[in-house]
Amino acid sequence: MKVVLGVSGGIAAYKACELLRLFTESGHEVRVVPTREVLRFVGEPTWAALSGNPVTADVWDDVHEVPHVRIGQRADLVVVAPATANTLAKAAHGLADDLLTNTLLTARCPVVFAPAMHTEMWQHPATRANVATLRERGAVVIDPAVGRLTGADTGPGRLPDPAEIFQVCLRVLRGRPRDLAGHKIVISAGGTREAIDPVRFIGNRSSGLQGYALARTAVARGAEVTLVAANVSLPDPAGAAVVRVGSTAELREAVLAASEKADAVVMAAAVADFRPASRHESKIKKTDGEPDPIHLTKNPDILAELGRLRREAGAGPRVIVGFAAETDDVLANGQAKLARKGCDLLVVNQVGEGLAFGTPDNAATVLVAGGEPVEVPRGPKDDVADAVWDLVAPRLS
Ligand SMILES: Cc1cc2nc3c(=O)[nH]c(=O)nc-3n(C[C@H](O)[C@H](O)[C@H](O)COP(=O)(O)O)c2cc1C
Repeated sequence: MKVVLGVSGGIAAYKACELLRLFTESGHEVRVVPTREVLRFVGEPTWAALSGNPVTADVWDDVHEVPHVRIGQRADLVVVAPATANTLAKAAHGLADDLLTNTLLTARCPVVFAPAMHTEMWQHPATRANVATLRERGAVVIDPAVGRLTGADTGPGRLPDPAEIFQVCLRVLRGRPRDLAGHKIVISAGGTREAIDPVRFIGNRSSGLQGYALARTAVARGAEVTLVAANVSLPDPAGAAVVRVGSTAELREAVLAASEKADAVVMAAAVADFRPASRHESKIKKTDGEPDPIHLTKNPDILAELGRLRREAGAGPRVIVGFAAETDDVLANGQAKLARKGCDLLVVNQVGEGLAFGTPDNAATVLVAGGEPVEVPRGPKDDVADAVWDLVAPRLS
């Protein structure tokens, strides 16, 4: 596939070198089109050597090849990363004063923008309006990540991890539907931990891979995603707002708060059913002799609570999806759980044989309230996530 990588003058331009490598190493033909300003951050030889193609920011070079028209016309995808506030503004208003902005006007393929800038610039009404205009015209604009910015300050504005931008681009290239556009979706991921004392906890084996795959695929299908992540050490999916939590109580609070305005909630996190009835304030010492037994108490059932709130208040998310990891009597246990929790879909995983926890692959049976179960064959967790969204999307429309 022919990819145009537009790079504009932000400090995050160095990260675009990694994005470029991900494209070339996976067999894509990449033409880098920098702005004049970005060449002050990362020079032309770097882009030319890494892409294996000539690089110019100007419409006045190689005029006989009419690059200001041809590059855009021939592209299968244009991705601008980082996209500065200035370049977003020019794109939104149709300016064409350099090769990149000309290319954006001549391209008829999908266009992805990955903005990166200081929080104030990102939140300015002018930038918000430009982003809204670009989205209305069909461009994919990935929300920046929250984190450390150029100086000591932190906030929304950071360029997402290049590997995550790459995943969004691959999905756009494959032409996946954007059937979740306009919907707010809350996803929980990872596994909660319940403190025994300040250094020890009771936890579970969930890596967060399936929840992160759900977030990544939902963003790519156009959703506005809040990802409540319990103890996950994976790169943030590009475009998702990530809320980090530790315990079940924290996860409950974050999920319920985000769910108030959500259209769908997917509870993929492995939530501890029990927690120690009391937490030691200081570390339990070996020298204190035999430890006291740890008494457990039940945690709140967040999935059931979401279903109950919706039933009683007649409001809340239109679609509630639960996950169940079972070791035996998988379907019977799943059916009982679906009925008990009052959710719309229950994704039942068999744990073991290289499936579920910490593995790149998964397989599932999705139980449907009032409908027939849907088998999802073994495959990458992104594919399992897409199968879930294929069932959620029609229930939202
Ligand atoms: C050190 C430095 C860092 C900058 N980082 C950013 C940035 O991350 N995002 C942004 O929108 N502008 C940033 N700017 C401002 C842009 O470089 C400036 O708006 C420029 O005109 C953008 O031109 P371009 O969009 O044609 O590349 C930065 C400027 C400097 C000097």
